[in-house]
Amino acid sequence: MLDHAAPVPIKRSSYIKPHIAIDAVHLTIRLFDDRAVVICRFETSRLDDSTKPLTLFGGKGMALDRIVVDGAPLDASQFDTAQGEIQVEVGANSVVETTTTIHPHENTSLEGLYLSGDMLCTQCEPEGFRHIAWYPDRPDVMSVFTTRIEAPRSWPVLLSNGNLIEEGVLDDHRHFATWHDPFKKPSYLFAMVAGDLDHVQDHFTTKDGRDVDLRIYVEHGNATRTKHAMESLKRSMKWDEDVYGLSYDLDIFMIVAVSHFNMGAMENKGLNIFNSKFILADEETATDGDLDRVEGIVAHEYFHNWTGNRITCRDWFQLTLKEGLTVYRDQEFTADMHSRGVKRTDDVALLRAIQFPEDSGPTSHPIRPEEYSEINNFYTPTVYEKGAEVIRMIATMLGQDGFMKGMALYVERHDGTAATCDDFVAAMADANGVDFSQFKHWYSQAGTPVVTITRHYSADTQTLTLHFHQKLPKTAAKTERKPMVIPITLGLVGGNGAVVPLHHDGDTLDQMTFTLTEAEDSLTLTEVPEDAVPSYLRGFSAPVRLKTDLTDAEEMRLLAGDVDPFGRWDAGQSLMVKALTSMVATPSASVDLTGMINGLAETLSDKRLDGAEKAQILRLPSQSIIEAAVADHPDAVCDPYLIWEKRRLMMSLIGKGLEATAAPMLTAFEKKANRLTAQDRALYGRLLGLAVLSGYAGAEDHALNLSRHKNMTLSENGLAALNQMEGANRETALAEFADRWADNSLVMEKWFMHQSSAPMVSTPEHCDALMEHPAFDANNPNKLRSVLSVFAAMNTPNFHANDGSGYLYLARHIAQIDQRNPQVAARIVLPLTRFSLYSDERKAMMKGALARIKSAGGISTDLSEVISKSMN
Ligand code: BES
Ligand code: ZN
Repeated sequence: MLDHAAPVPIKRSSYIKPHIAIDAVHLTIRLFDDRAVVICRFETSRLDDSTKPLTLFGGKGMALDRIVVDGAPLDASQFDTAQGEIQVEVGANSVVETTTTIHPHENTSLEGLYLSGDMLCTQCEPEGFRHIAWYPDRPDVMSVFTTRIEAPRSWPVLLSNGNLIEEGVLDDHRHFATWHDPFKKPSYLFAMVAGDLDHVQDHFTTKDGRDVDLRIYVEHGNATRTKHAMESLKRSMKWDEDVYGLSYDLDIFMIVAVSHFNMGAMENKGLNIFNSKFILADEETATDGDLDRVEGIVAHEYFHNWTGNRITCRDWFQLTLKEGLTVYRDQEFTADMHSRGVKRTDDVALLRAIQFPEDSGPTSHPIRPEEYSEINNFYTPTVYEKGAEVIRMIATMLGQDGFMKGMALYVERHDGTAATCDDFVAAMADANGVDFSQFKHWYSQAGTPVVTITRHYSADTQTLTLHFHQKLPKTAAKTERKPMVIPITLGLVGGNGAVVPLHHDGDTLDQMTFTLTEAEDSLTLTEVPEDAVPSYLRGFSAPVRLKTDLTDAEEMRLLAGDVDPFGRWDAGQSLMVKALTSMVATPSASVDLTGMINGLAETLSDKRLDGAEKAQILRLPSQSIIEAAVADHPDAVCDPYLIWEKRRLMMSLIGKGLEATAAPMLTAFEKKANRLTAQDRALYGRLLGLAVLSGYAGAEDHALNLSRHKNMTLSENGLAALNQMEGANRETALAEFADRWADNSLVMEKWFMHQSSAPMVSTPEHCDALMEHPAFDANNPNKLRSVLSVFAAMNTPNFHANDGSGYLYLARHIAQIDQRNPQVAARIVLPLTRFSLYSDERKAMMKGALARIKSAGGISTDLSEVISKSMN
């Protein structure tokens, strides 16, 4: 929202239950070429004996053409709509009807009702419904919706939540459709779509034999690219039945793909609306990674039908109740569909790269925040990804059966209601007879705990004592820092990856979970052979930073054969981070990576690993992870440019070191390019990147050739490899790619991303030129992100240019975007706030760029909240 006054933060502690229930809502939405008229009629009843008026929310200054209470028209002009909130006197049981005229065609915020291409669609979560009608737009007000849409017949498809109960023609070349959703829901789950759309259809039979009509609606011409999404939907429906016993509950489930969307996708009851990039995907237009992401998002939104819709959130502070839980569920789904180890590693890499920096920066907050100015700013990696880790810890501590017992009780107690995080944890605790009161600090305390483990081994008694220590760092959120409950899964690894049994308290186990609850504690294991190497935090059993006394040689042992795929990968990551940190600390010293490279070469030839696992092990830790490690080092300066250079140097050294093993593999991949598995394509891409960077003979030609492949994974493998360096082959590959995909707006987003991320090459001037390209659309969030967010996140040398030009470039665009789309502006700005580890000089430049945005004046509450937190 655009606002000039300083926003008043909303506090979790100020929650007040609604005094009035809305028993049924009848919406009539009349669509015209230049406006929409919304008539919203609802029945109210009192929930307590107060005589308080009913609070209705609307957009600030949104029209209130007419208001009628119990048949009596009130003077609409007497209501002050300027603050977006009006009070209406109602009786014990009343009927309220409001009429509002809105202008979806002029709505560039993509919140509420808006035009995406030629179709009208909605986005109501979290507070978009109030831009459609005056209503108690809060998630704990749940009601049964009946929606009648009237529109010109040039928009033949009219959709809303629930079941279609009536349709017909009207005068003036108009028609209507009426939808009824029998399930009570909050207004944020309302949706409607109107347009000239094509659709594909399939069906699913539930475990109790009900037939569900499945439809995916798309713009004409796109129906052929929906197969993967539809198959993903059916797999999700089956999985939720098999694993959670949860079935779908309406006769029809619809997905609509729209081109202009602020987020990835939205779980509106029975009518999910998706960013088209997460529906329209097949092997020609999308990579293997893209396809897996599509599958995961389709699953995520589908899973919300229970964890989010049937049981929703009492207030927005509880957002992680539905998002953390649903992310956990979609992660487990993907793990079951594909490789559990690879999925876990991907998720941990993402958490460390995105959530850890958030938790140590100016926008740090607990997974259940205490206050906000703009709730849209709290759809964060902390609420989502750390929130999912918190659910995962509960599942680890209770075991699968215990967790499912807790889920069953949660559903039984709260189905049809708006619940809290406390309710969820209580169901888990009660179903299992455990006490989670200390565990709940994870909901209220911000920051990433640092866990330090030190060892004391006695060769005489063959006992190994592990000392654990935990510390929660101070954060900008200033929340309490009491000891957390931290489950640490561990095992012992012998030579050749042999499993060394754990002897503890009379038990013999392959691995165990030690739960740290105090600031310090210890664990003693007996019958431990002298050379056994501990593998800690297996499966990344808690979202913490781990510090250990493991030597390089010991980590090499884990890299060579820890049975835990996460432990194995993480040992490699740790070795790389350590080497990179010393390269940055003493930039002039020569580096000897022989040991590590030998270890990686062995990994590359290890028959027990598939291509995807090898590719992950060969992926260098992300820039932000290295920055955090460097910042911890007593005599290193956290300079993002230098870190980027050293990271790239290490990549080319690894490439050179692996050449003898990798070059023949690349030749073999090239020969059977058409018959590779997705796992091998992943390794192919990784090795080709290393080959081009370290200059293997013929590597550039190989990559250029591959960039022409029909399979998008291979094509992008080729393009991405060339994109790391300036050169004629890079230019050729990019030009050919643009030529090939000029008509496919979604694939052109990839082209924008390659361009804006190209290190060295893509300066702000280049990016400005990209934004003039015919395929660019400044009102489309995907397009904006494909240039600006990618520039800031991946083009380190230009974004972090020492003269601050990258920062000012981003700032200039953010100020403009904010005028049209505050939510998107408040996300694109975030890289400018990640300065806490940098030198004072760099901090000043980044803050200077933020100050510039602010000084322009008239910025949104969304953007202003992020900037003020960062400047404090
Ligand atoms: N409920 C959200 C969509 C949403 C978020 C709407 C913020 C409005 C504001 C949806 O379930 C979601 O979480 N989508 C994610 C993708 C998901 C796979 C994590 C998204 O849109 O990024
Ligand atoms: Zn979600």
